[in-house]
Amino acid sequence: MDKIRIHGGRPLSGSIKISGSKNSALPILAATLLTREPCTIRRVPDLSDTNYMLQILKHLGAEVERASGTVTIAAVKIDSIAPYDVVRRMRASVCVIGPLLGRCKEATVSMPGGCVIGDRPIDLHLKGFEALGAAVRVEGGNVKVFAPKLTGAVVNLRGKFGPTVLGTDNVMMAAVLAEGTTVIEGAAQEPEVVDLANFLNKMGAKIEGAGTRRMIIEGVKELHGTEHDIIPDRIETGTFLVAGAIAGKGVTLKRTEAQHVQSITDALIKSGFKIDITRDTISVAPNGATTPLELTTEPYPGFPTDMQAQMCALLSTTDGISVITEQIFPQRYMHVAELKRMGANVDLEGPTAVIKGVHQLHGAPVMASDLRASAALVLAGLKAEGITEVSRVYHIDRGYEHLDEKLSELGAEIERVKD
Ligand code: EPU
Repeated sequence: MDKIRIHGGRPLSGSIKISGSKNSALPILAATLLTREPCTIRRVPDLSDTNYMLQILKHLGAEVERASGTVTIAAVKIDSIAPYDVVRRMRASVCVIGPLLGRCKEATVSMPGGCVIGDRPIDLHLKGFEALGAAVRVEGGNVKVFAPKLTGAVVNLRGKFGPTVLGTDNVMMAAVLAEGTTVIEGAAQEPEVVDLANFLNKMGAKIEGAGTRRMIIEGVKELHGTEHDIIPDRIETGTFLVAGAIAGKGVTLKRTEAQHVQSITDALIKSGFKIDITRDTISVAPNGATTPLELTTEPYPGFPTDMQAQMCALLSTTDGISVITEQIFPQRYMHVAELKRMGANVDLEGPTAVIKGVHQLHGAPVMASDLRASAALVLAGLKAEGITEVSRVYHIDRGYEHLDEKLSELGAEIERVKD
């Protein structure tokens, strides 16, 4: 297993390009199952999660060709069963259920387990499929959904922690081939949901209201092949903005979409950093003294849960007391114990982290536990005095395309070493 070793304290400067969005690419790749015609998707990031998704599509019978960031998928004839062995490595595998149900009118997919960031049920996905007329059975660790025909319906997908991103995606992908009109109330508004809806509309679907809380989907008889470019990854953008804030002299991110990261740039400006935005770049630079923050994670356009760990790393060396409340995944604090090993002063009170800024973090061997927690440890390592070694790097490779190489381009002293 690889480790990432960082010699902290090197100032970052210069520019890097942001990759295509992981969380857009995963459901869009799954959506290609909805047509027998070939689809070409560009700017698919080279990550273990996108590779798992392509393996699942191949298992289901699709032909997949990948040339760098461009993937062509032809799902001419497909099977509707995805067993445990094939889907267990990635929770986002659940987003094949919607397209399989839409196209084959049945799907049997192994249920995802919990994960370190929390419980992660799929009850809202299933509620949506049932509303469309599907029967749902959970047996032998599999979820089986089937319907002689799907019929449009009104369904509210808001749960106790707010809207569901993959749930909205899944129900939308089943509803595009249902008979009649489906209305999704309480829909997720994330840019990745909009990207999927745009892709489906290019395939011939009729979806309105993506990006709002109410989506209207008029079912069509069939979809056709198309081409699409994945949007820039807003969480990778946010992570590099924090890298620039924590250790930068002036860092510019290219191929970004500033509107998608406004809650993050607003937070950085409030904390005292200088942010400059052009049509497709964002720059971050120090601007004198910094101030602590109070942040609460919320569904888009609020501050994203996927940036909570990285902000913990930044605020752990910001003078004063910062408070972060995690509303989406209240237990998503695996990074805190590791940050404390580097000298951070953080108290957890249920879903709230109280962070007392320390003057200096110290390099230490630390363990990655999930994707964003691992990124937070790398960011802390950029700032820390001495050497930080982050083990279990496979978590980072699930969701960041060449994180170490991009940081190295910016001047970080960072290397990948074998355990
Ligand atoms: N929830 C339910 N029932 C459901 C579905 C969700 O109660 O049926 C709850 C969840 O437990 C959570 C909340 O609703 O408390 C929101 O979860 P959501 O369904 O929106 O999460 P997701 O769609 O499974 C996506 C991203 C996550 C990101 C969340 C929230 C992908 C592949 N994953 O997950 O990304 O944290 O939305 O924005 O799009 C990551 O990239 O590191 C990551 C974890």
